[in-house]
Amino acid sequence: MTPVVVVGAGIAGLATALEIAQFEDVTLCAPDQGWKQSSTYRAQGGVAVALGPDDHYRYHYDDTVRVARDLAHENAVAILVESGEEAVKPLIRGEIFEMQGETAPAMEQEAGHSRARIVHAVGGLTGRAIAEFLYSKVMRSSRIHWVTGRAVQLITGTSGSCRGIWVLPSSGSPFPLWAGATVLATGGYAALWQQTTNPTSSLGQGHWLAYDAGAALADLEFVQFHPTVLDEGVPRGQALLLTEALRGFGAYLVDGQGHRFMQDYPQQELAPRDEVARAIYQQPQAFLRLDHLDAAELYRRFGDIAQLAAQRGWNLAADPLPVYPAAHFCMGGIRTDTSGRTTVADLYAVGEVAHTGVHGANRLASNSLLEGLVFARRVAQYLAGHRAAAQELNDGALIAPKPWTISDETALEQLGRMMDDNFGVMRAGQTMDRARARLSTLAAQENHWIFSFASLVAQSALERQESRGAHFRSDAPHSDARWRGHLIHQKGRSMRFQALSGKE
Ligand code: SIN
Repeated sequence: MTPVVVVGAGIAGLATALEIAQFEDVTLCAPDQGWKQSSTYRAQGGVAVALGPDDHYRYHYDDTVRVARDLAHENAVAILVESGEEAVKPLIRGEIFEMQGETAPAMEQEAGHSRARIVHAVGGLTGRAIAEFLYSKVMRSSRIHWVTGRAVQLITGTSGSCRGIWVLPSSGSPFPLWAGATVLATGGYAALWQQTTNPTSSLGQGHWLAYDAGAALADLEFVQFHPTVLDEGVPRGQALLLTEALRGFGAYLVDGQGHRFMQDYPQQELAPRDEVARAIYQQPQAFLRLDHLDAAELYRRFGDIAQLAAQRGWNLAADPLPVYPAAHFCMGGIRTDTSGRTTVADLYAVGEVAHTGVHGANRLASNSLLEGLVFARRVAQYLAGHRAAAQELNDGALIAPKPWTISDETALEQLGRMMDDNFGVMRAGQTMDRARARLSTLAAQENHWIFSFASLVAQSALERQESRGAHFRSDAPHSDARWRGHLIHQKGRSMRFQALSGKE
């Protein structure tokens, strides 16, 4: 029994556990080495925070809301940007970031930002540096207890509240872990796509567990495609992302004839991510070029990424690098308020798995690591004032989850390229409808939650008959004010549309 269990060991899970450990014991549940298999560990770019001399969180707010294409929750965005400085201070003290002088971190430019405001690690692997820092702090905390395994079901009490999780260890049977509060920090679902920047574990299992326990999910159709992934035909989960910071540093995008096709866009290569992804998608071939840049400075700043590219046979400073867009970040998730509370009592969500409303239809670059840090604090602050005692069910209502009869790998093989082909950068009603029907058949035939979850994503994408942010439909290429709102899924109810009130 534990006061709080946090599920997941990316930035949101590690930071939430550390924040809670300041006032009580907490259990962290993740697979063995799960922190290294998180999206955080792979994240390049950095953390967006308005610390520059010409910057202010109000400008960061404006950029976030503009890129979110009229679907962000303004109060959640205000919390995100105003809390940024406080949230990154421990990381600055931990010497994670490249500095400019003694006290101020160096700032970098990324797409959609009106200012250089991305703090980053030298070498380019910012997420890894942050994960290592947080992990070492977690290991030193006597209040954080690790349980190794995967959460495979939530335990719900007779009143419908969440009482903890069923944990599946790497060998053996699932066992119940009773908790006063359960916090899901399980990341996104971008690995449902074959072409993805994410680790293969990002399948949306946290979303599914919450849905199955009665929680509302919102905006599942909004999945951001990162424009520049190295095109070399590697298996799912092994793609090398070429950070947007390279374009901030001056890299160009060219077509097969060497023409800079982003030159017609006002922000050129630094246009918002959805625009760059669509522009690349429409080229027969696209390349990222860095051979006009200062190679010594490039290697100093992006040495770790250059090394990863070199291991795959590419010279970052000299080769035209073939790129394509790949599924990267999920704006949709488990609906929460700004304290991480879901629609199920005693169940919380934080980080990419959560839908706080900060990202709207399109996330601003480098806002996700910030989101993990800021909302980890918010959840912990709420829990500090609302402690719930863990209680076992004593009414015989506890039923162990049945194992899925096929493995994740087999399920993914069946999913094949269905998500890429039908729910990719550019979508169309007819093909989405056919794929949705196929997914429903698979969901009925196969004993694996992935098909049921992918069906929810498909239903949302088909239902939203407009283009907005990351969701682009060739058969409805414009935004439509009637669609300014959220598509909500909740078990036992039909999918519903909830207009954005303007006060959120
Ligand atoms: C990147 O470095 O381009 C990715 C970072 C992010 O997704 O914000």
